[in-house]
Amino acid sequence: MANLNKENIPKHVAIIMDGNGRWAIENSFKISEGHKKGVLTVKDIVEESVKQQLSSLTIYAFSSENWKRPRSEINAIKKLVIDAIDEQVPDLIEQKVRLKFFGHTNDFGNRIIKKIDFAEEKTFVKKSKLDLNVALGYGGKQDIVDITKKISSNILNHKIKLQDINEKIIHESSSVPVKEIDLLIRTGGDKRISNFLLYQIAYAEIMFIEKYWPDFNRNDFIKCLRDFKKIKRRFGKRKVN
Ligand code: FPP
Repeated sequence: MANLNKENIPKHVAIIMDGNGRWAIENSFKISEGHKKGVLTVKDIVEESVKQQLSSLTIYAFSSENWKRPRSEINAIKKLVIDAIDEQVPDLIEQKVRLKFFGHTNDFGNRIIKKIDFAEEKTFVKKSKLDLNVALGYGGKQDIVDITKKISSNILNHKIKLQDINEKIIHESSSVPVKEIDLLIRTGGDKRISNFLLYQIAYAEIMFIEKYWPDFNRNDFIKCLRDFKKIKRRFGKRKVN
């Protein structure tokens, strides 16, 4: 598939990768196999994002609510994250993809924390071709609580004044590395946001795709980018002829 014309291409894309579980059940696999297949989809979509020259891709790997899942599934996802880092870091370096994790990553224990540090250090590059941001132990409401605590504490400690609070300070106090999402894609058929990037999707175009994440492919992704290019974005303004 050829490269799309760069005009009006979304710079910052976010994805809620839903449907791994249903894909596994409907194909008579264990749930963990669905997540495993999901990682292969991530690999393809990252490659395509580099090819189409997006600036960032932000993916929801584990939400603050996912801790309510069975221990066995949580452990399988933890193992997948470690394996994905081990397997993918050389390819990411080669493609100049800078990897960042965000959310309450400390809740995942030492082994994952060390792996994350390793991956972020190894893939660090000043001028990346793509920033790949992975939400791990992330919740949008939880992030807003954290931001509020951080800013309040800076006010109490006289580091900033109340009147200094602005969107820039809110962004800098958030764990989310990207300021504004242009396009949010959710696979798996459900039409909801599920606590992802609540603040950053203020003006995002949102696309709900029926396919489960393991079945989502490069052509589906390119179709989303192509559809996005056709949208007239007004950001609240009125276009005068
Ligand atoms: C949603 O499907 C998927 C998840 C909660 C986990 C996704 C995680 C990965 C694909 C691992 C990615 C890791 C890296 C580092 C790339 P679901 O289980 O909620 O699906 P269901 O709605 O059909 O049950």
